[in-house]
Amino acid sequence: MLSKRNKITKVDDRLKHIAFIMDGNGRWAQKRLAPRSLGHKYGASAFKRIVKYCYELGIKTVTTYAFSTENWSRPKSEVDSIIQLLHDYTSEVIEDGRIRIRFIGERANLSSELVEVMNNAEEKTKDREYQLNIAFNYGGRSEIVNACNRLISQGKQSVTEDDISNNLYTSGLPDPDLIVRTAGEVRMSNFLLWQLAYSEFYFTDVLWPDFDKKHLLMAIESFYKRERRYGGLNKTKEKK
Ligand code: IPE
Ligand code: IPE
Ligand code: MG
Repeated sequence: MLSKRNKITKVDDRLKHIAFIMDGNGRWAQKRLAPRSLGHKYGASAFKRIVKYCYELGIKTVTTYAFSTENWSRPKSEVDSIIQLLHDYTSEVIEDGRIRIRFIGERANLSSELVEVMNNAEEKTKDREYQLNIAFNYGGRSEIVNACNRLISQGKQSVTEDDISNNLYTSGLPDPDLIVRTAGEVRMSNFLLWQLAYSEFYFTDVLWPDFDKKHLLMAIESFYKRERRYGGLNKTKEKK
């Protein structure tokens, strides 16, 4: 749906699920000669704003990449600051009446206290309308390996694509229609490797803490100009 100024005000069901690789917090802080943790703090504010805009636009499922399995290699102080932000947000989200949260990623090596906070938030928000998936301690390859191991332990001799999809962290959710990555890096960094098979990608140089509604609308406008063919033919050419 377009407003008078030709700006998108609502999406339709072509855009059910948007995912963000929230990159550039560190560079945002470095530009200000500030510690990287400040970048993550402002990144967390951007995350809250963007999630809200997505729901206002009618996007029902949002997934954000907050911490990868590879991000443990960063200094402990930085990792701790990210975990603290996750902790704070997880308590906050319960107060937001609309968001249904799901954490996607491995919980085995997280503190039992954090895991309890996560489980509690998932349980308390489970009947809500807007799905928010936070990828935390997430790795796409390990997600697929875990799904396969689970199927093996169920005694499966062979598996289908549905078997794998149904055993991923995102089980039951639509695949992302659009994946946005900020901060100029043109790679997936082990994000949603199975689910992205037919996703559209949008890359921008904007650093995540600066990513705002206007940038989100630019990404969505770009998405609506694409033709998703899924291996078929261009619909207008097909008729000729
Ligand atoms: C993204 O920002 C957040 C996480 C990976 C946790 P970065 O911290 O990767 O920021 P840059 O890429 O160093 O600028
Ligand atoms: C990807 O960003 C992970 C998150 C945004 C959480 P990174 O900054 O870790 O990715 P690389 O190292 O540049 O590939
Ligand atoms: Mg980065």
